[in-house]
Amino acid sequence: MMASVQVPVFAKFVDELRAIWAAQPDIESRMEAAKPSLERLVRDDDLKGLSAGWPSTEGGKNLLFYVDPDHGFAINAVVRVPGRRGRPHDHGAAWVLYGVLDGQESLERYDRVDDGSEPGHAEIRMSSVTTGTQGKVDLVPPHDIHAEQGGSVRSVAIIIRSQKLGGSNIQRGFDPVAKTYVERSGPSQIPYELTAG
Ligand SMILES: [Fe+2]
Repeated sequence: MMASVQVPVFAKFVDELRAIWAAQPDIESRMEAAKPSLERLVRDDDLKGLSAGWPSTEGGKNLLFYVDPDHGFAINAVVRVPGRRGRPHDHGAAWVLYGVLDGQESLERYDRVDDGSEPGHAEIRMSSVTTGTQGKVDLVPPHDIHAEQGGSVRSVAIIIRSQKLGGSNIQRGFDPVAKTYVERSGPSQIPYELTAG
């Protein structure tokens, strides 16, 4: 997985994140400080060109480029087919920065409107939707309910997560019509070596 840092723009990005993680005292400050670095990365047209060769992540997958050995943050990508519809979900205790590299994606945000007292029951209401193209970065805090929707063309996003997903980090998937939720461990992590050609 460390081979991913052979791509210079990606290596610089990882160095920036490591410096931020070392300098900032808490995860919220780190994620906020990392936002401009991700904005610069996803504006890189060479990386966008490389991403044309990345495989689809259909079927609940994430490409996993990098996990930091000292700080634990993870860098993923998602590659969506045209017209991909995402279900509302949260990322459990993880913080997520989500940056569009290619194509167009929309981020829907939802409010929880029931009192949470009934296990398995959840009523949610969409509160906003923002549509982004290359360079757009969104910060999603822990337990925030949202959905990522694809556009009319293939789209690619780069994701910084405060921790690698899976294992003990439980996420929730919501069904707004049935007013239910399920708990699950999140997308499968597919190690992928980012190489320059
Ligand atoms: Fe998400």
